[in-house]
Amino acid sequence: MITVEALDLLATTVLLLNPAGRIEVANAASEDMFGRSRRHLLGQPAAALFERDAALEQSFRQACAGEMSDCRQFAMTRRGFDAIEVAVTSVALVNKPWAALIEVKDIEQRIIVDRTSRLVDEVETQHELLRNLAHEVKNPLGGLRGAAQLLEAELPDPALTEYTRVIISEADRLQALVDRLAAPQRMPVQWQAVNIHEICERVCALVRAEFREVAILRDYDASMPEFRADPSRLMQALLNVVRNAAQMLTQAVATRSPHITIRTRIARQVLLRHKQHRMAVVVAVIDNGPGVPDNLRDRIFHPLVTGRDGGTGLGLSLAQDFVQQHGGVIEFDSKPGHTEFRLMLPMEPL
Ligand SMILES: Nc1ncnc2c1ncn2[C@@H]1O[C@H](COP(=O)(O)OP(=O)(O)O)[C@@H](O)[C@H]1O
Ligand SMILES: [Mg+2]
Repeated sequence: MITVEALDLLATTVLLLNPAGRIEVANAASEDMFGRSRRHLLGQPAAALFERDAALEQSFRQACAGEMSDCRQFAMTRRGFDAIEVAVTSVALVNKPWAALIEVKDIEQRIIVDRTSRLVDEVETQHELLRNLAHEVKNPLGGLRGAAQLLEAELPDPALTEYTRVIISEADRLQALVDRLAAPQRMPVQWQAVNIHEICERVCALVRAEFREVAILRDYDASMPEFRADPSRLMQALLNVVRNAAQMLTQAVATRSPHITIRTRIARQVLLRHKQHRMAVVVAVIDNGPGVPDNLRDRIFHPLVTGRDGGTGLGLSLAQDFVQQHGGVIEFDSKPGHTEFRLMLPMEPL
């Protein structure tokens, strides 16, 4: 027997639905979950509490019709102005005064972010290794290039310079690669008051000029205050992420009506890199391209990992580095038609 009062003792949100899918009982925790009073919840269709989602609506319908025993899925709901991701379990009830029970849980943000922190630590170690390697490669590379130049000057047959040219140009390419690998450490972080939307606009302008066929939509939170950051690093990080999206949209198999959305939001009580922050800036870059290839998913933030012909695989690792220097992290979700990279930065007061 379920006694309705006992449900109020639970920390998880529980809703009991009638056969039409409307809420008949909402426990105390549901008021916090949805940021509304119980009076406002009762009588509402349960599905209306979540962002439109055909799969979720179907499980609610099936549960209410007594068709299914147990189904857990993820959904988005709103609490005030915040969009939050939750895990929803629908259970059909048999021989009870209600048709179905819905349980809603906050997804532990901790888990998501800790996974990323581990990745960040791992990437840090790799970078250290690569920087040392870059350093070791630099000197012999200079010698190699110099020797090829001397050789070129001495060649009896000008046709042979074709080969020395290859040596020199490849040495230059490696040199540039090595410079980029060593780059993040070079300059000290330049902290100043930053307006994130100015940075977004500059990135937009650059990417627009380079990829004319891609539409870039902006969805800015106008209430975003200025915060303390290094504008050139943020700009480079965002540019790398947006350019990747544009490149994926315009690659060999181009996406139809390609578009990118840049969305800014303020998140509250976020755990970033082992530290709890009262507020964080979230810049999401969303594209409707093919998605991150499955075989690269776990590795795209690692240096030299690329899925593109001619890619260096440095864009995301550098972007992650820069955001990390702000105490933040970049994470992503991807499926065909919807890829979202989120730059999450602690909002440091000025
Ligand atoms: N928006 C995106 N959609 C799909 N795949 C992406 C996206 N962004 C990055 N990737 C994948 O991650 C790889 C690594 O990106 P990056 O580190 O910038 O290196 P590069 O751009 O030189 O390949 C890309 O080659 C691509 O396969
Ligand atoms: Mg790139």
